Amino acid sequence: MIPPEAYARLAKIAWVHAPPTEDASESEDVIGRYRICERLGAGSAGVVFRAVDPDGQEVAVKLLRRRRSRGSRYMRELELLERTAERPGVVALLDAGRSARGPFLVLELAVGGSLRTLLSREKRLGWRDASELLLTVAESLAALHEEGIIHRDLKPENILLQDGGQPLISDFGLAKDLGDADGELTSAGIAMGTIGYMSPELLDGNRDQLGPWTDVFALGSLLYELIAGKPPFSGKNLREAARSVREDEVADLPDTPPRLSALVRRCLAKDPTQRYEQAGDLASALRDALSPADNLPEAEPPAPSEG
Ligand code: ADE
Repeated sequence: MIPPEAYARLAKIAWVHAPPTEDASESEDVIGRYRICERLGAGSAGVVFRAVDPDGQEVAVKLLRRRRSRGSRYMRELELLERTAERPGVVALLDAGRSARGPFLVLELAVGGSLRTLLSREKRLGWRDASELLLTVAESLAALHEEGIIHRDLKPENILLQDGGQPLISDFGLAKDLGDADGELTSAGIAMGTIGYMSPELLDGNRDQLGPWTDVFALGSLLYELIAGKPPFSGKNLREAARSVREDEVADLPDTPPRLSALVRRCLAKDPTQRYEQAGDLASALRDALSPADNLPEAEPPAPSEG
């Protein structure tokens, strides 16, 4: 049950099921009080633009797609978005409203684009750079996991980069609807590229089995892809990709310390109880795997003493 005061608080946030209320004559390059500069991309939640606010500050404006989900679920999602939007390492939610073109969110602009853009450009990263990046994401996620908040839709498109390359998690609370009434995976709205980050329990629609370990799986998949230059699971179509997630063994990572390969494999365990339980545990393991002592070459045997 959503308490009545939550409605007042969330009234400032876009309400997809309501018709646009502002003057429909609003011009093409304006959304609310934001001047649109360029289209940055489109995701499951909607189209994103780079824009400037009335003070000249650059922001990202996300024009939300109409959703098929029921009002109550949409409300829960927005509530989650609001709860997570001021956390370190999470894209800040600056404003929200309704425009002639539909409801919109105003977000902190991540000028470095997404990890997807980075992967398209660089193909792969060295294991150390990839692990350090993932460690930052895991540390940001750890505090949320402690409170029982999970993302459920982590993928390269949802990890954005700041100017200095610091990662920010985006789209909290905007996770797509999964499964039909019987808990079966439906293909509607699930892009091929998304399947490989979805754990078996998420694919099977086992809502009661979802937890922080579901995000840990996605982070494992992400780390694998960053290092290997290709995802750990794939297929020619949705069914094939889902089969790969459920059944395929994870190949060894090239040019990677065995300890890190084992860490990634543990994240990607089919059985959720075999994974790190939450992002904080993964962060500790990553810190250990990155510690110099662990990666030194084998110690030289002592030189024979003279005399
Ligand atoms: N793409 C999606 N959200 C974005 C944001 N906040 N900044 C930059 N690009 C984005």
